[in-house]
Amino acid sequence: MNTRDTLYVKDGSLYIGAFRATELAEKFGTPLYVMDAQYIAEVCDAFVAAVNKSGEGAVAFANKAFAAVATAKLAAAHGLWFDVVSGGELYLVQNAGADMKKVLFHGNNKTPREIDEGLDAGIGYFVIDSLNEIELLDKKAGERGVVQDVLVRVNPGVSAHTYEAVMTAAPFSKFGFDVHGDAADVIKDIASRKHLRFCGLHVHIGSQIYDHSSYDTAIDVVTDFMRGLAADGITTDVLDMGGGYGIYYTDEDPKFTPRRYAYTVENIALRAREKSAEKGLKQPFIIVEPGRSIVGEAGITLYTVGAVKDFPGVRKYVAVDGGMFENPRYALYESRYSAMIANKADKPADEVVTIAGKCCESGDLIGKDMPLQHAETGDILAVFSTGAYNYSMASNYNLNAVPPVVLVDGDKAGYIVKPQTYRDLLRNNTVPEWMK
Ligand SMILES: Cc1ncc(COP(=O)(O)O)c(C=O)c1O
Repeated sequence: MNTRDTLYVKDGSLYIGAFRATELAEKFGTPLYVMDAQYIAEVCDAFVAAVNKSGEGAVAFANKAFAAVATAKLAAAHGLWFDVVSGGELYLVQNAGADMKKVLFHGNNKTPREIDEGLDAGIGYFVIDSLNEIELLDKKAGERGVVQDVLVRVNPGVSAHTYEAVMTAAPFSKFGFDVHGDAADVIKDIASRKHLRFCGLHVHIGSQIYDHSSYDTAIDVVTDFMRGLAADGITTDVLDMGGGYGIYYTDEDPKFTPRRYAYTVENIALRAREKSAEKGLKQPFIIVEPGRSIVGEAGITLYTVGAVKDFPGVRKYVAVDGGMFENPRYALYESRYSAMIANKADKPADEVVTIAGKCCESGDLIGKDMPLQHAETGDILAVFSTGAYNYSMASNYNLNAVPPVVLVDGDKAGYIVKPQTYRDLLRNNTVPEWMK
């Protein structure tokens, strides 16, 4: 556990804000996603200060990490912009009252409907990622008599040291235009369009990145590319360096504070500005787009322990009332977490167990070979750093209900996503006329 003022152990119990985790589990039921508002606010403030320290910039929250209206409102109140990747995420930030000029619309295959929705909402920037998007956006902006600001997603061909599935700027990525290939021609094409205004570049090299030399390399490559554009008379006003900062999941990872994460943002912004100056470029407005580092460690999932199965000398399974329907990251990436029995927080974690979910898949695990206190049926298990890519990737597999989300803000706790009912699970089911 990466302890902090709002996540700590007292009198043998795990606390989140002013609440014992067991108290939250009792009041709201399990499985339960808990999000720590104070942590989110602290990271947002630190990131905004960091990106603006050496020049002008903005922090856009990557909604894909965790999408809920209340947390979007919280982020907006702390000055954040938003990165959306679907009509659904756009709808969410509209509902959160976000300033549409501070919204960036990403995606390697935006649908015509999503392009309409973005234009009608008056969003700040589309981040162009395909040739047909250029055609479609130019045409649709023309039909509305507007000129749409755009960024272009470029691929600097940098391999960040991370898992392949979350690596997005390697030479074989499905995202972006290659800076060593067609990107310059694509931008020239955009610059010649009547209804598109080329404003800048977007780069996202991957996720769970601890090795910051990858960002430095990407900045070197992309500012070289900007110099080439400048020689053709094209100015890059905005440089969006994406997100991807690695967070604490297990004791093998660094235990960063919000200020330490912000140091990464500060360095990225500073290097981008320094390299731009060095290469005689106009100072770009720097955008960073973190998701996981804002909400990841803010989230804790609480479960009730059910079956415990011991295969002596082989493996001990501790099964919980959640699983891959609410946390698919082990099934997707064999992700690792740390956990604690919340009601035995002062006991030694002297067993090594595999935490299993309740879905009908043998790969339905929360984690393998995790150190844990002796678990018994009825205990409350807390899994840490589950705020990113858990709720946002949840499904109704096996017709399990997606758990509710409770926001804790000091001594206040309330739903920000209500529990699903069985009725909700069947809401869109219908029986065609001929079967009635
Ligand atoms: C374009 C873009 N921006 C930002 C992010 C956020 O990354 P992270 O949550 O790792 O900070 C992602 C994640 O995939 C992304 O694809």
